Amino acid sequence: MEKASNYYTSDLTLKVNRPKMSKQKLFALRLDHRPHRDMRVSTHIALVARAFGMDGIFFSGVPDTKLCEKINEVNENFGGNFLIKTGCEWKKVIKDWQSQGGEIIHLTMYGLPLPEVIEKIVNSSKDKLIVVGGPKVPRELYSIANYNVSITNQPHSEIAALAVFLDYYHKRQEFNFEFKNAKIKIIPSKNGKKFAT
Ligand SMILES: C[S@@+](CC[C@H](N)C(=O)[O-])C[C@H]1O[C@@H](n2cnc3c(N)ncnc32)[C@H](O)[C@@H]1O
Repeated sequence: MEKASNYYTSDLTLKVNRPKMSKQKLFALRLDHRPHRDMRVSTHIALVARAFGMDGIFFSGVPDTKLCEKINEVNENFGGNFLIKTGCEWKKVIKDWQSQGGEIIHLTMYGLPLPEVIEKIVNSSKDKLIVVGGPKVPRELYSIANYNVSITNQPHSEIAALAVFLDYYHKRQEFNFEFKNAKIKIIPSKNGKKFAT
């Protein structure tokens, strides 16, 4: 059986150049993308996933080349090898991930509080697929997932949920990530906008 670490090498040139220390793969799956209605939210989910050190993101729902182009343009300018794939079948992505030894972490307000489970998740050596919902979350996902994790038990947003999860997961190291082959590098400054090209 192929290991999850070789996941999708055939159709996506998978070269993990993740700006983080661990060897495990870290992907997101966003359910049910609708190109016209969800463009802004889906773009922001992918940008958060990239900036906070994930290896890539899958979207189920309608294929969307525009969304892929937007994110690939950010990769071109700001570096790294973040992968994006749209039009996936959610259950197949999850089943393949699990059958290759990876685990599924579903972010939902009904799950166990993040502070209670984060150490167990961080200490596990398995590749991780973080699932966030869209307009409708299939009921069976709650039983398929290895972890159902809440970021407070209040309803909010998939973008916020993913960002907070990744901040806990990386223990604030996202501030130190380097993105290889960047054309543009921001120079943090008190006033104005400074960058090097
Ligand atoms: C706006 S919600 C929609 C929820 C959807 N209507 C349902 O059936 O559950 C979209 C996604 O944001 C994430 N989310 C929202 N609030 C959350 C919370 N408190 N904790 C973790 N994830 C949350 C979940 O991934 C959820 O599927």
